Amino acid sequence: MITVLMLLILKSGTVSASSVTFENPNPCALKGSSVEFRCSYNYSKQETVDKTTWHKGELKDGLWKRVKLSDLPSYENRTEYLGDLQHNCSLAIHDVQENDAGYYYFRFDTYTVGWRSKTSVYLSVKELSARVYPDTVRAGDTVTLECTSCQLPSVWFKDGRRVAKTEFQAQVEDAGNYACAVEGQESALSDPVALDVQYPPLSVSAEVSYSGKANSSVNLTCSSTANPPANYTWYKRTDSLSSTVQVGSGQVLSIPSVEQSHTGLYFCQARNQLGENNSTELLTVDVTDKTVNHFILLVGIGVKVVIIIMLTLVIIIWAWRWRCSSAVDKEENHNDYENIPTAHTDRHLAQV
Ligand SMILES: *[C@@H]1O[C@H](CO)[C@@H](O)[C@H](O)[C@H]1NC(C)=O
Ligand SMILES: *[C@@H]1O[C@H](CO)[C@@H](O)[C@H](O)[C@H]1NC(C)=O
Ligand SMILES: *[C@@H]1O[C@H](CO)[C@@H](O)[C@H](O)[C@H]1NC(C)=O
Ligand SMILES: *[C@@H]1O[C@H](CO)[C@@H](O)[C@H](O)[C@H]1NC(C)=O
Ligand SMILES: *[C@@H]1O[C@H](CO)[C@@H](O)[C@H](O)[C@H]1NC(C)=O
Ligand SMILES: *[C@@H]1O[C@H](CO)[C@@H](O)[C@H](O)[C@H]1NC(C)=O
Ligand SMILES: *[C@@H]1O[C@H](CO)[C@@H](O)[C@H](O)[C@H]1NC(C)=O
Ligand SMILES: *[C@@H]1O[C@H](CO)[C@@H](O)[C@H](O)[C@H]1NC(C)=O
Repeated sequence: MITVLMLLILKSGTVSASSVTFENPNPCALKGSSVEFRCSYNYSKQETVDKTTWHKGELKDGLWKRVKLSDLPSYENRTEYLGDLQHNCSLAIHDVQENDAGYYYFRFDTYTVGWRSKTSVYLSVKELSARVYPDTVRAGDTVTLECTSCQLPSVWFKDGRRVAKTEFQAQVEDAGNYACAVEGQESALSDPVALDVQYPPLSVSAEVSYSGKANSSVNLTCSSTANPPANYTWYKRTDSLSSTVQVGSGQVLSIPSVEQSHTGLYFCQARNQLGENNSTELLTVDVTDKTVNHFILLVGIGVKVVIIIMLTLVIIIWAWRWRCSSAVDKEENHNDYENIPTAHTDRHLAQV
């Protein structure tokens, strides 16, 4: 009876003097990395530590059990006891796996008693991952880069090149694939994430392809840089510059056989969800003759250029008309000459 009481007093004395301290009870580890649980333990001076073990809290049949890591096959060759039988109980886990997340406990046994840590180390496991948000923006919007790296300093790469800022106003050229890495471990990149920068059509241009043969086809092609890709609409300016009519849609306006009715100034409009703009070129389709078609590509919509071209056309038309009418005059003169005898005869007849 007395010995039992003595033992109890001895035991309680031992218990009160014992403690286990975890330097960081909530460590975070990246998948594939190594993690160290810094740990120290204390016990009454009279005791001598015989054995130390690390356990993991495992749910079995609805009950939490502490299972020795050495009994868990998934930890084979991955745990390393860094501590000793004095006061250091640090543990390292290498090549951390997702399943390693959970509660860890330390236990030491002296020759007389075993002591389990009351508290635990909770390990969370994260995969190094990059996030760009929002991942679809309009040019000019603010973009933030976020790297899940267990609070370790991280660095960013865009398509393999270092990115300095983790927050910026997205420009068209910022579109691409982003990945992050822990500083000093740049070879282990996260999976890339894409940033899509959308913008309305820029540099809308139109060009004409024409074989030069009579009755052949003419294709007017519109192009632009836009994200998302633009839809195209074709317009024609007719008599007055102010009146435009829609003549088609699609990137290529194909005129299978050019006729007089196709004469006009053409331009295209590129449109996407973010806006629209018109081509700066005016394509002049000028059918002056059934067999002769002129296609003049005017670069730049400047009114001056249009006026100059219009004047040139007027001069060409005028010159052509002048040449035609002088040919007719010659023909008439020729006829007059040929008819002179007849005229004489007539006059003669009239005189008669
Ligand atoms: C315990 O041992 C580890 C590994 O040798 C060492 O890094 C650590 O500083 C020691 N002390 C404590 C209190 O963990
Ligand atoms: C261990 O316990 C002894 C006696 O109780 C105390 O003096 C010492 O500071 C303790 N050490 C640690 C690391 O808790
Ligand atoms: C652990 O290491 C031993 C000795 O190197 C080896 O035989 C064994 O296959 C390893 N186990 C695992 C799961 O890698
Ligand atoms: C215009 O496009 C059509 C259809 O793609 C093609 O058959 C034709 O040869 C093109 N004409 C010119 C002048 O490029
Ligand atoms: C061009 O087309 C017109 C009308 O379809 C036709 O009268 C003419 O013979 C054609 N010319 C050539 C060179 O094919
Ligand atoms: C472009 O055309 C496609 C297919 O015709 C249509 O679904 C889409 O809504 C159009 N986009 C715009 C911005 O008009
Ligand atoms: C349309 O394009 C012209 C020439 O590239 C540009 O100066 C103008 O700002 C654009 N307008 C819009 C609304 O995007
Ligand atoms: C482009 O042309 C269309 C048709 O004439 C017009 O309604 C629109 O306002 C023009 N857009 C720009 C940006 O000039």
